[in-house]
Amino acid sequence: MKSLWGFAVILLVFSQASARTAGFVKSPLSQMKLVEDSAELHCEVIGNPIPEVQWWFIEGEEPQETFIQLFDGARDDRVRINATYIHHATSTFHLFNLTLNDTGVYECRASNDPDRNDLNTPPKVKWIRSQANIIVFEKALILTEPTEVVNKTSAVLKCNLTNPAGPVKGVYWTKDGKTIESTVSDVPTTYTEYNLTSINHQAGGKYACVFQTEPQAEEVIEVKTQPHVYAKKASEHGNEKDKGVLECLSHSYPLPTDWAWFVKVGDAGDKALIANGTDKYEIKSTPNKTTLYINDLDINQDMGVYQCYGKNDMGEGIAEIQLRVRSRLAALWPFLGIVAEVIILITIIFIYEKRRKPDEINDDDDSGSAPLKSNVATNHKDKNVRQRNSN
Ligand SMILES: *[C@@H]1O[C@H](CO)[C@@H](O)[C@H](O)[C@H]1NC(C)=O
Ligand SMILES: *[C@@H]1O[C@H](CO)[C@@H](O)[C@H](O)[C@H]1NC(C)=O
Ligand SMILES: *[C@@H]1O[C@H](CO)[C@@H](O)[C@H](O)[C@H]1NC(C)=O
Ligand SMILES: *[C@@H]1O[C@H](CO)[C@@H](O)[C@H](O)[C@H]1NC(C)=O
Ligand SMILES: *[C@@H]1O[C@H](CO)[C@@H](O)[C@H](O)[C@H]1NC(C)=O
Ligand SMILES: *[C@@H]1O[C@H](CO)[C@@H](O)[C@H](O)[C@H]1NC(C)=O
Ligand SMILES: *[C@@H]1O[C@H](CO)[C@@H](O)[C@H](O)[C@H]1NC(C)=O
Ligand SMILES: *[C@@H]1O[C@H](CO)[C@@H](O)[C@H](O)[C@H]1NC(C)=O
Repeated sequence: MKSLWGFAVILLVFSQASARTAGFVKSPLSQMKLVEDSAELHCEVIGNPIPEVQWWFIEGEEPQETFIQLFDGARDDRVRINATYIHHATSTFHLFNLTLNDTGVYECRASNDPDRNDLNTPPKVKWIRSQANIIVFEKALILTEPTEVVNKTSAVLKCNLTNPAGPVKGVYWTKDGKTIESTVSDVPTTYTEYNLTSINHQAGGKYACVFQTEPQAEEVIEVKTQPHVYAKKASEHGNEKDKGVLECLSHSYPLPTDWAWFVKVGDAGDKALIANGTDKYEIKSTPNKTTLYINDLDINQDMGVYQCYGKNDMGEGIAEIQLRVRSRLAALWPFLGIVAEVIILITIIFIYEKRRKPDEINDDDDSGSAPLKSNVATNHKDKNVRQRNSN
């Protein structure tokens, strides 16, 4: 029993010797945001034992300031705190859907004092603190004209920034998040235009004008076109009894909301809608792709022209796929052909060899030695010539 106490004492001394008070490795950084954006503060602390990290909001001015601790789910569930306590403490504070009221001073606090949360005994080592400001600005008001482009062949996109939060350093346009290099300008303007001279399915997408203010302000104008639908392969082959796979894709904006498959029947151009989920057919669709699976391919029934339809609010796009079904035997033909070819070739060579054998021996004797002699002669002559020249 005594030795156990001794051990405990040693352990206590040892642990106290190696204990380290908390220290910041990463402190939160101040940021400027717009209403409805989200803010993220990050804090990392070392110490032994691993410190606890808390987040606080400071309300009011000194000396009447009050401190409010922020927990996961605070502020109408707009606060998320992600913490890990492995090797050291990391904590990320997320505040979503910012309002003007969220402007203020936020504090990352850390402590590894065992009494840190004891209300009666003040902790020996106080909490260490690191502060950052979140400043929320009124969202920039950008007037766009038109607000969206639907089913047009050309358009001029216009943006007018009416309430710049500060100086404008420049402006540019993006399409689907990618900067359109030709539009990048460092002219301090609050008005910009982008000319879409011909709108096809490739021109559709989400355009945005970006004013380089602090924080930057942008507004989106959607350019919508009818879906453009195309077959992955315009002609497909399948073997009898196998599963046929037909695929159609779309890249236009917006992507189709509905897909349908038809099969042409008869010569009059009639077509029948293919129902999903039967023994014969299965359709799998995502917005940018639809796949028709045809089970147990049949030469008489399944050969023909298939159509895929992609539909959105603007209209529809169609693509056709020709399906050919080969009989199982037909699939063997190329192989049998090769085998036959090889057999014929071997036969021909065999016959040829047998007939040529006696003559060939003589031929070799004649043709082999004669040119060899003449070669030697010419080589010799050349040598003489060269020797003479060099002398
Ligand atoms: C918090 O962490 C979990 C797991 O690491 C992650 O799935 C989740 O997206 C994070 N939450 C936020 C708001 O970043
Ligand atoms: C953000 O908050 C506003 C009210 O302040 C609310 O109307 C809006 O729906 C919220 N947006 C999201 C994405 O939660
Ligand atoms: C901001 O706070 C004030 C009072 O503090 C409140 O009346 C107002 O509704 C709040 N606004 C938002 C957008 O939360
Ligand atoms: C931008 O909007 C403001 C306010 O509505 C208006 O006074 C101004 O003429 C507009 N500028 C352009 C270039 O349209
Ligand atoms: C847009 O481009 C077309 C063709 O290049 C031109 O005719 C038209 O004037 C341009 N519009 C604007 C507003 O620049
Ligand atoms: C077709 O039916 C299968 C199940 O039978 C289902 O998983 C699939 O989502 C359906 N596809 C469509 C486009 O409705
Ligand atoms: C189709 O959309 C999915 C996500 O929905 C994406 O991962 C995939 O890359 C897209 N495929 C093509 C060909 O655009
Ligand atoms: C879009 O334009 C096409 C012709 O270019 C027309 O057939 C279609 O009905 C239009 N769709 C809408 C929604 O206006």
